[in-house]
Amino acid sequence: MKIYKANILHTPSPECFEVYRDGYIVVDDEGFILGLHDTLPADMEGMPIVDFGNRLLIPAMNDMHVHAPQYANMGVAMDMELIPWLNTYTFPEEEKFSNEEYAQTVYHAFVAELCRQGTMRAAVFATTHLPATLCLAKTFDETGMGALIGLVGMDRHSPESLTNTAQSWKADMQQLIQSLTNKAMVKPIITPRFIPSCTPEMLQRMGEMAAQYDLPVQSHLSENKQEIAWVQQLEPHSTCYGDAYHRYGLFGQTPTLMAHCCYTEGEELQLMRDNDVCVVHCPTSNCNLASGIAPIRQFLQVGLRVALGSDVAAGHHLSIFRVMQYAVQMSKLQYALSDGKYPFLTLSEVFHMATKQGGSFFGKVGSFEVGYAFDALVIDDSDINGMCPQMNCQQRLERFIYLGDDRHITHRFCQGKEISLNSKH
Ligand code: GUN
Ligand code: FE
Repeated sequence: MKIYKANILHTPSPECFEVYRDGYIVVDDEGFILGLHDTLPADMEGMPIVDFGNRLLIPAMNDMHVHAPQYANMGVAMDMELIPWLNTYTFPEEEKFSNEEYAQTVYHAFVAELCRQGTMRAAVFATTHLPATLCLAKTFDETGMGALIGLVGMDRHSPESLTNTAQSWKADMQQLIQSLTNKAMVKPIITPRFIPSCTPEMLQRMGEMAAQYDLPVQSHLSENKQEIAWVQQLEPHSTCYGDAYHRYGLFGQTPTLMAHCCYTEGEELQLMRDNDVCVVHCPTSNCNLASGIAPIRQFLQVGLRVALGSDVAAGHHLSIFRVMQYAVQMSKLQYALSDGKYPFLTLSEVFHMATKQGGSFFGKVGSFEVGYAFDALVIDDSDINGMCPQMNCQQRLERFIYLGDDRHITHRFCQGKEISLNSKH
């Protein structure tokens, strides 16, 4: 058992932060939370305590949409919209992952940086290449961080060396599943790239496998207007983009993450609601690719689940704190553009998306409630808040989210285990 003392904040619900100033959190030997207290319970008097002093202790970040093989392109190639961006910059970079050595170099750097930025769990797209994807899974496993690893399916409108077939994808997926059988923290996820990259045969096979192995699904949905028109052309029988996944068992039949949803409305919105499909909001990406402003307030108003994703490399940074900031700011643009019809997002709402909502795909993760995994970050914000001793914990967290960075994160925990930078656990 471990007892940690710090200024503790979390969002069991989106409406507000719950704050424990000089609070205590008790964690069992398996890394799960036994209790959260304002004062030390009497029966723990005299036990050893890890005291983080005046620092903040918050749940770790969950990045629910990110492309590991695009890491080398992070922060460049921002001058195009989605489809030409994919063809010009992204597919050529992903083709390099047929080389296992290159993959290993990039994937090690990617996982290290994800950790540095305070993300302890992620839903990740790899590429169509099995050896590289196994390497990505192994890298996560060795660090002790959590991941859903997606071997990507692509069998049309893609360069030859980035293409697999329904058959080869299935065989490779079986190997990935096999290799992860006894892993607690790293698991497979069914990953059609998006409808334009997948033939009906591929989608069919993927839906069957999701059902057979009870695996979650991740993909892209209604990100860009040109993409949506293309999907309509490719799948004329579908009533909407989401329906093109749904008819193959890839839209909520098992837990499903759909990134973007910038133009989701009407029937597609209803289909997401009926099937409890989780939106992954990627505001940095939506800005960089000039995709649009996802109507997140409307999604929340109808009860859709919304998590956050960096979508690197369309997103330019792995920090989910930055993504939170963009999420609030984009919602303020939408508020202004709608003449105040859609209230903008609050900090506790986006924090909840980044922690408890995303974390739900990994079990009980993303909150400090009893029974949850102790996934946490310790924040030393003294150099950004030292001049304002009167600030309360919530204001300190807000300033860290807007002005802080990885240098302020002093400790990282994933399911109770301290994860150190650049080291295998
Ligand atoms: N749609 C299909 N592939 C991609 C990708 O790699 N990034 C983004 N942002 N959208 C996509
Ligand atoms: Fe993406």
